[in-house]
Amino acid sequence: MMRPHRHSHPFTPALSKAAWLGVLFFFLFTLAACGGEAAEPTPTLDPVAAAGEVVFRRECAACHTITGSTVVVGPPLMGIAARAAARVPGQDAQSYLLTSIMRPDEYIVEGFENTMPTNFGRKLTGEEIDALVAYLLTLE
Ligand code: HEC
Repeated sequence: MMRPHRHSHPFTPALSKAAWLGVLFFFLFTLAACGGEAAEPTPTLDPVAAAGEVVFRRECAACHTITGSTVVVGPPLMGIAARAAARVPGQDAQSYLLTSIMRPDEYIVEGFENTMPTNFGRKLTGEEIDALVAYLLTLE
């Protein structure tokens, strides 16, 4: 059995009220967005370096600071991207950093003991290590 067809106006009063509210809010938002000073772009890490930062906080931050010159256990890493290239002749920044993580005993930073864990090469995935190096290279 067919139900009687009910005609309804496409814009019921309730709907059009909501629609107008929407238009009003759209303009308010647009005004608010244009009214303020253009926001400074926030420097963001590329996704690989950002993943490296997460690994760093988890595995490395207990011993290494990344801002300032405070020594916790290991050398502070602020500016390491620039220093790394000059540490070992024949090693660019990237290979020095990679070696520092995989085989920290190969080069001992002056004034420090070789207490950095030597098992990161087994503990971390290749991706995590690549990400860590990418992250350390951002510490200029
Ligand atoms: C238990 C403390 C400890 C942890 C955890 C640790 N390190 Fe180290 N790290 C050291 C010490 C001590 C040194 C200095 C001795 C040496 O050169 O091996 C060092 C040296 C380094 C250096 C060389 C710095 C320079 O100025 O040349 C880098 C790079 C480094 N660590 C990165 C890392 C990264 C990345 C992690 C995490 C995956 C990490 N460390 C975890 C203690 C630690």
